[in-house]
Amino acid sequence: LCRRGRRKEASSVLLLMAVDGLGGDVEHALPLAAALELIHSYSLVHDDMPEMDNDTLRRGKAAVHVKYGQGNALLTGDALLNCAYEVMLDGAKNAPDPMAYVGAAASIATLAGIRGMVGGQAIDTAELHSDFGINKCLDTYLFKTSALFKAALSAAATYCGRQDRLAAYCKYADSLGLAFQIKDDILDILGDQSLLGKNVGSDAATGKRTLVALAGMEQAQNLLSKYTDEALEALTECEEAQPLAQLAMTLLNRVS
Ligand code: IPE
Ligand code: MG
Ligand code: MG
Ligand code: MG
Repeated sequence: LCRRGRRKEASSVLLLMAVDGLGGDVEHALPLAAALELIHSYSLVHDDMPEMDNDTLRRGKAAVHVKYGQGNALLTGDALLNCAYEVMLDGAKNAPDPMAYVGAAASIATLAGIRGMVGGQAIDTAELHSDFGINKCLDTYLFKTSALFKAALSAAATYCGRQDRLAAYCKYADSLGLAFQIKDDILDILGDQSLLGKNVGSDAATGKRTLVALAGMEQAQNLLSKYTDEALEALTECEEAQPLAQLAMTLLNRVS
Protein backbone atom coordinates (compact mmCIF):
# COMPACT_ATOMS: atom_id res chain seq x y z
CA LEU A 1 0.00 0.00 0.00
CA CYS A 2 2.78 2.37 0.89
CA ARG A 3 4.59 1.83 -2.40
CA ARG A 4 1.43 2.48 -4.36
CA GLY A 5 0.91 5.61 -2.27
CA ARG A 6 -2.58 6.12 -3.53
CA ARG A 7 -4.80 8.75 -2.06
CA LYS A 8 -7.47 6.42 -0.88
CA GLU A 9 -5.23 4.61 1.54
CA ALA A 10 -3.17 7.51 2.87
CA SER A 11 -4.50 8.03 6.38
CA SER A 12 -5.06 4.36 7.24
CA VAL A 13 -1.59 3.44 5.95
CA LEU A 14 -0.08 6.31 7.93
CA LEU A 15 -1.62 4.98 11.13
CA LEU A 16 -0.39 1.42 10.56
CA MET A 17 3.09 2.54 9.49
CA ALA A 18 3.42 4.76 12.54
CA VAL A 19 2.29 2.01 14.93
CA ASP A 20 4.69 -0.41 13.27
CA GLY A 21 7.56 2.09 13.49
CA LEU A 22 6.90 2.61 17.20
CA GLY A 23 6.93 -1.14 17.80
CA GLY A 24 3.22 -1.23 18.70
CA ASP A 25 0.70 -4.03 18.18
CA VAL A 26 -0.29 -3.51 14.53
CA GLU A 27 -2.98 -6.18 14.42
CA HIS A 28 -5.09 -4.63 17.17
CA ALA A 29 -4.69 -1.20 15.59
CA LEU A 30 -6.43 -2.43 12.41
CA PRO A 31 -9.92 -1.30 13.55
CA LEU A 32 -8.55 2.23 14.02
CA ALA A 33 -7.12 2.16 10.50
CA ALA A 34 -10.36 0.70 9.12
CA ALA A 35 -12.30 3.50 10.81
CA LEU A 36 -10.11 6.11 9.12
CA GLU A 37 -10.65 4.38 5.79
CA LEU A 38 -14.43 4.38 6.29
CA ILE A 39 -14.41 8.03 7.37
CA HIS A 40 -12.30 9.00 4.38
CA SER A 41 -14.62 7.11 2.01
CA TYR A 42 -17.76 8.73 3.44
CA SER A 43 -16.15 12.17 3.13
CA LEU A 44 -15.58 11.55 -0.58
CA VAL A 45 -19.14 10.32 -1.20
CA HIS A 46 -20.43 13.58 0.32
CA ASP A 47 -17.68 15.71 -1.26
CA ASP A 48 -18.82 14.70 -4.77
CA MET A 49 -22.45 15.66 -4.22
CA PRO A 50 -23.93 18.52 -6.26
CA GLU A 51 -24.11 20.96 -3.34
CA MET A 52 -20.43 20.37 -2.62
CA ASP A 53 -18.03 19.72 -5.54
CA ASN A 54 -20.59 18.38 -8.00
CA ASP A 55 -18.26 15.67 -9.32
CA THR A 56 -19.48 12.68 -11.29
CA LEU A 57 -16.55 10.24 -11.31
CA ARG A 58 -14.75 8.64 -8.35
CA ARG A 59 -12.22 5.81 -8.36
CA GLY A 60 -12.98 5.20 -12.02
CA LYS A 61 -16.71 4.73 -11.46
CA ALA A 62 -19.82 6.90 -11.38
CA ALA A 63 -20.01 8.86 -8.12
CA VAL A 64 -22.49 7.37 -5.64
CA HIS A 65 -25.07 10.15 -6.10
CA VAL A 66 -24.89 9.75 -9.90
CA LYS A 67 -25.56 6.04 -9.75
CA TYR A 68 -27.93 5.83 -6.78
CA GLY A 69 -29.35 9.35 -6.33
CA GLN A 70 -28.62 12.09 -3.80
CA GLY A 71 -30.72 10.68 -0.98
CA ASN A 72 -28.88 7.39 -1.14
CA ALA A 73 -25.49 9.14 -1.39
CA LEU A 74 -26.25 11.08 1.77
CA LEU A 75 -27.28 7.88 3.53
CA THR A 76 -24.27 5.96 2.19
CA GLY A 77 -22.00 8.56 3.76
CA ASP A 78 -23.95 8.40 7.02
CA ALA A 79 -23.77 4.60 7.01
CA LEU A 80 -20.01 4.57 6.38
CA LEU A 81 -19.46 7.07 9.19
CA ASN A 82 -21.59 5.06 11.57
CA CYS A 83 -19.78 1.89 10.58
CA ALA A 84 -16.45 3.60 11.36
CA TYR A 85 -17.51 4.12 14.99
CA GLU A 86 -18.97 0.63 15.19
CA VAL A 87 -15.69 -0.94 14.04
CA MET A 88 -13.60 1.36 16.21
CA LEU A 89 -15.62 0.68 19.39
CA ASP A 90 -15.67 -3.04 18.72
CA GLY A 91 -11.86 -3.00 18.50
CA ALA A 92 -11.57 -1.58 22.02
CA LYS A 93 -12.52 -4.99 23.45
CA ASN A 94 -9.31 -6.63 22.26
CA ALA A 95 -6.91 -3.71 22.52
CA PRO A 96 -3.64 -4.40 24.38
CA ASP A 97 -4.06 -1.16 26.35
CA PRO A 98 -7.78 -0.25 26.29
CA MET A 99 -7.31 3.23 27.76
CA ALA A 100 -4.67 4.09 25.18
CA TYR A 101 -6.93 2.67 22.45
CA VAL A 102 -9.85 4.82 23.60
CA GLY A 103 -7.56 7.87 23.61
CA ALA A 104 -6.54 7.06 20.04
CA ALA A 105 -10.18 6.64 19.00
CA ALA A 106 -11.00 9.98 20.61
CA SER A 107 -8.35 11.76 18.52
CA ILE A 108 -9.84 10.25 15.38
CA ALA A 109 -13.34 11.36 16.40
CA THR A 110 -12.17 14.91 17.16
CA LEU A 111 -10.00 15.42 14.10
CA ALA A 112 -12.55 13.91 11.71
CA GLY A 113 -15.27 16.22 13.01
CA ILE A 114 -16.14 19.89 13.12
CA ARG A 115 -12.77 20.77 14.71
CA GLY A 116 -11.01 18.92 11.89
CA MET A 117 -12.00 17.51 8.51
CA VAL A 118 -15.70 18.39 8.60
CA GLY A 119 -14.81 21.92 9.71
CA GLY A 120 -12.44 22.21 6.74
CA GLN A 121 -15.06 20.94 4.33
CA ALA A 122 -17.48 23.51 5.74
CA ILE A 123 -15.02 26.38 5.08
CA ASP A 124 -14.28 24.89 1.65
CA THR A 125 -18.00 24.85 0.83
CA ALA A 126 -18.41 28.45 2.02
CA GLU A 127 -15.22 29.71 0.38
CA LEU A 128 -17.06 32.19 -1.80
CA HIS A 129 -16.64 34.94 0.78
CA SER A 130 -14.46 37.70 -0.61
CA ASP A 131 -11.30 37.44 1.52
CA PHE A 132 -10.46 33.90 0.39
CA GLY A 133 -6.79 34.28 -0.54
CA ILE A 134 -3.70 32.06 -0.39
CA ASN A 135 -3.41 32.07 3.41
CA LYS A 136 -7.08 31.33 3.98
CA CYS A 137 -6.84 28.56 1.39
CA LEU A 138 -3.86 26.96 3.19
CA ASP A 139 -5.71 27.26 6.51
CA THR A 140 -8.64 25.42 4.98
CA TYR A 141 -6.32 22.66 3.72
CA LEU A 142 -4.97 22.20 7.26
CA PHE A 143 -8.49 21.26 8.28
CA LYS A 144 -10.00 19.53 5.29
CA THR A 145 -6.93 17.43 4.42
CA SER A 146 -4.22 17.57 7.13
CA ALA A 147 -6.69 16.81 9.90
CA LEU A 148 -7.23 13.16 8.91
CA PHE A 149 -3.46 12.64 8.61
CA LYS A 150 -3.11 14.20 12.04
CA ALA A 151 -5.87 11.91 13.31
CA ALA A 152 -3.90 8.91 12.01
CA LEU A 153 -0.62 9.94 13.57
CA SER A 154 -1.89 11.22 16.88
CA ALA A 155 -3.97 8.04 17.17
CA ALA A 156 -0.86 5.94 16.46
CA ALA A 157 1.28 7.76 19.04
CA THR A 158 -1.50 7.63 21.65
CA TYR A 159 -2.25 3.95 20.99
CA CYS A 160 1.45 3.16 21.49
CA GLY A 161 1.67 5.30 24.65
CA ARG A 162 4.22 7.54 22.92
CA GLN A 163 2.99 11.04 23.78
CA ASP A 164 6.61 12.16 23.31
CA ARG A 165 6.06 11.70 19.55
CA LEU A 166 2.83 13.71 19.30
CA ALA A 167 4.37 17.09 18.49
CA ALA A 168 6.70 15.84 15.75
CA TYR A 169 4.10 13.57 14.19
CA CYS A 170 1.44 16.29 14.20
CA LYS A 171 3.86 18.75 12.57
CA TYR A 172 4.62 16.13 9.93
CA ALA A 173 0.90 15.51 9.37
CA ASP A 174 0.11 19.21 8.98
CA SER A 175 2.83 19.70 6.36
CA LEU A 176 2.11 16.41 4.59
CA GLY A 177 -1.58 17.34 4.35
CA LEU A 178 -0.76 20.70 2.78
CA ALA A 179 1.57 19.04 0.27
CA PHE A 180 -1.00 16.34 -0.40
CA GLN A 181 -3.83 18.78 -1.13
CA ILE A 182 -1.63 21.02 -3.31
CA LYS A 183 -0.61 17.95 -5.31
CA ASP A 184 -4.32 17.03 -5.58
CA ASP A 185 -5.02 20.51 -7.00
CA ILE A 186 -2.11 20.16 -9.45
CA LEU A 187 -3.32 16.73 -10.59
CA ASP A 188 -6.75 18.21 -11.22
CA ILE A 189 -5.04 20.18 -14.02
CA LEU A 190 -2.09 18.05 -15.12
CA GLY A 191 -3.28 14.57 -14.16
CA ASP A 192 -4.38 11.70 -16.37
CA GLN A 193 -8.07 10.98 -15.86
CA SER A 194 -7.69 7.24 -16.42
CA LEU A 195 -5.05 7.02 -13.67
CA LEU A 196 -6.76 9.46 -11.31
CA GLY A 197 -10.18 7.81 -11.63
CA LYS A 198 -11.85 11.22 -11.30
CA ASN A 199 -12.57 14.04 -13.72
CA VAL A 200 -9.61 16.22 -14.63
CA GLY A 201 -10.39 19.95 -14.82
CA SER A 202 -13.26 19.71 -12.39
CA ASP A 203 -11.93 22.42 -10.02
CA ALA A 204 -11.67 24.94 -12.88
CA ALA A 205 -15.05 23.91 -14.27
CA THR A 206 -16.73 24.74 -10.95
CA GLY A 207 -14.61 27.88 -10.38
CA LYS A 208 -13.04 26.40 -7.26
CA ARG A 209 -10.46 28.68 -5.66
CA THR A 210 -7.73 26.09 -5.17
CA LEU A 211 -4.16 26.96 -4.30
CA VAL A 212 -3.23 26.60 -7.97
CA ALA A 213 -6.04 28.95 -9.02
CA LEU A 214 -4.99 31.51 -6.40
CA ALA A 215 -1.19 31.30 -6.63
CA GLY A 216 -0.51 29.90 -10.11
CA MET A 217 1.07 26.59 -11.10
CA GLU A 218 4.70 27.59 -10.50
CA GLN A 219 4.09 28.86 -6.99
CA ALA A 220 1.96 25.79 -6.25
CA GLN A 221 4.83 23.50 -7.31
CA ASN A 222 7.19 25.48 -5.05
CA LEU A 223 4.83 25.18 -2.11
CA LEU A 224 4.43 21.45 -2.77
CA SER A 225 8.22 21.02 -2.41
CA LYS A 226 8.37 23.34 0.58
CA TYR A 227 5.70 21.48 2.56
CA THR A 228 7.16 18.09 1.64
CA ASP A 229 10.55 19.30 2.96
CA GLU A 230 8.87 20.55 6.13
CA ALA A 231 7.19 17.17 6.60
CA LEU A 232 10.57 15.44 6.33
CA GLU A 233 12.21 17.96 8.68
CA ALA A 234 9.57 17.33 11.33
CA LEU A 235 10.78 13.74 11.55
CA THR A 236 14.52 14.38 11.84
CA GLU A 237 14.60 13.39 15.53
CA CYS A 238 12.37 10.34 14.97
CA GLU A 239 14.67 7.57 13.77
CA GLU A 240 11.79 5.03 13.76
CA ALA A 241 9.82 7.13 11.25
CA GLN A 242 11.85 6.47 8.09
CA PRO A 243 8.87 4.79 6.36
CA LEU A 244 6.77 7.90 7.04
CA ALA A 245 9.42 10.03 5.35
CA GLN A 246 9.41 7.66 2.39
CA LEU A 247 5.63 7.90 2.17
CA ALA A 248 5.90 11.70 1.94
CA MET A 249 8.20 11.28 -1.08
CA THR A 250 5.87 8.69 -2.68
CA LEU A 251 2.93 11.06 -2.28
CA LEU A 252 4.92 13.98 -3.69
CA ASN A 253 5.55 12.02 -6.87
CA ARG A 254 2.20 10.29 -7.16
CA VAL A 255 0.22 10.38 -10.39
CA SER A 256 -3.10 9.30 -8.93
C1 IPE B 1 -11.60 16.81 -0.51
O1 IPE B 1 -10.76 17.63 -1.26
C2 IPE B 1 -11.11 16.66 0.88
C3 IPE B 1 -12.02 15.84 1.69
C4 IPE B 1 -12.05 15.96 2.97
C5 IPE B 1 -12.93 14.86 1.11
P1 IPE B 1 -11.08 17.64 -2.80
O2 IPE B 1 -12.51 18.02 -3.03
O3 IPE B 1 -10.08 18.44 -3.52
O4 IPE B 1 -10.89 16.10 -3.15
P2 IPE B 1 -11.18 15.47 -4.59
O5 IPE B 1 -10.32 16.22 -5.59
O6 IPE B 1 -12.63 15.64 -4.85
O7 IPE B 1 -10.74 14.04 -4.47
MG1 MG C 1 -13.97 19.16 -2.04
MG1 MG D 1 -13.85 17.16 -4.43
MG1 MG E 1 -9.39 17.96 -5.48
